[in-house]
Amino acid sequence: PPLYIITPTYRRPEQVPELTRLAQTLMHVPNLHWLVIEDAHNQTTQVTELLQRTGIRFEHLIAPMPESYKKKKGSKPRGVSNRNKGLQWLRANATDGVFYFADDDNTYDIALFSEMRFTRKVSMWPVGLCTKFGLSTPVIHNGTFLGFYDGWVAGRKFPVDMAGFAVSVQFLHERPNAIMPYKPGFEEDGFLRSLSPFDPKDIEFKAENCTKILVWHTQTKKNEPAAKVDMAKYNNTNVVKLRS
Ligand code: UGA
Ligand code: MN
Repeated sequence: PPLYIITPTYRRPEQVPELTRLAQTLMHVPNLHWLVIEDAHNQTTQVTELLQRTGIRFEHLIAPMPESYKKKKGSKPRGVSNRNKGLQWLRANATDGVFYFADDDNTYDIALFSEMRFTRKVSMWPVGLCTKFGLSTPVIHNGTFLGFYDGWVAGRKFPVDMAGFAVSVQFLHERPNAIMPYKPGFEEDGFLRSLSPFDPKDIEFKAENCTKILVWHTQTKKNEPAAKVDMAKYNNTNVVKLRS
């Protein structure tokens, strides 16, 4: 059965480099179906072309963030419209296998995909470089699950990162109301709660009982779009003319 990877992405200078890195990781993973979902009103040509070159089985979908959230000041529900579109696609097109929300900017060890492939309900593992503690993970001691370690618990029942869990497609089908809320900071918790009936005791722990880090919450620094550079100024000061 396939592994469905749901990747939210949006147009910015870092989009193609991020997706290039992720694509070239996923190219090493067998039996994978990549759902790349843009927060945009139309598909980005450069993304389509990149996807076609990979040889990966893919869907290139769009799911713009609703205007009401886009206009709001402060933190926004990033990637939520995209992920819900992915869930909708799975409900209509997938029968078995496992799905995973893989943001376009994280760093993934290909061993992670073998770990999640046999998820029966919901599996979890550590995420490195995450929150002020540098790590977000379930804690297992002498084979007993003790709880979650995360730098920002905030009353969450499941204080985990988006990159820290995978779900069985069949399990999703049995929960027709499961959905990700437009609630910044509480997307993971809201989604996992919506999988009810599902409790921490049902979690399948991977990555050697959560002792190995196989995914990192890396973040790329923001770059100015090239169009904003004043070329007149740069032509005088930053261009070295070749001599013939
Ligand atoms: C934080 C959390 O650590 C993640 O677990 C969570 O997935 C994310 O917020 C979220 O809010 O959904 P962070 O690195 O701050 O992660 O978020 P981004 O990487 O900027 O965005 C998450 C995903 O949504 C990325 O794949 C990104 O391409 C996409 N995104 C972001 C959009 O589709 N639209 C946007 O306007 C911004
Ligand atoms: Mn990120």
